[in-house]
Amino acid sequence: MTLLSRTGVSLDEDLLREFDRLIARRGYQNRSEAIRDLIRETLLSESVSSNKPVVGTLTLVYDHHVPNLSEKLTAAQHAAGAMILAATHVHLDHNYCLEVIIMKGRSSALQDIANRLLALRGVELGKLVLTTSGKELKGTQHPRQHRHKT
Ligand code: NI
Repeated sequence: MTLLSRTGVSLDEDLLREFDRLIARRGYQNRSEAIRDLIRETLLSESVSSNKPVVGTLTLVYDHHVPNLSEKLTAAQHAAGAMILAATHVHLDHNYCLEVIIMKGRSSALQDIANRLLALRGVELGKLVLTTSGKELKGTQHPRQHRHKT
């Protein structure tokens, strides 16, 4: 079980007012949760930049009429092996398909796979979102979640 610690932070009043306005716009109920999220975000970007294992979702929009594109997309995913966890395909309209590929691995490896897929002719749009594998979040959960009885 993770213990909850309290900490005080000294801040310039203007900076704090601006922070309060920002978190109100984003719908936070209190500063603590907003600060926890900022810390998690910073830890995540540290995981990404230090090439730790992360989870990624790659969203692609492509024209399935482009010759061999579907085969190339499938072949690239097979080549990535166990790093590909799942893929979902939606036929958007007569021409376009949407594919969301969920991957797990070191951030640089996932970026390489994404770059390879995005560079294929016929892939019109795409974006890779990297997020934590979950491990780093241990201990940064909302305090309510670790007050359960076990
Ligand atoms: Ni399709």
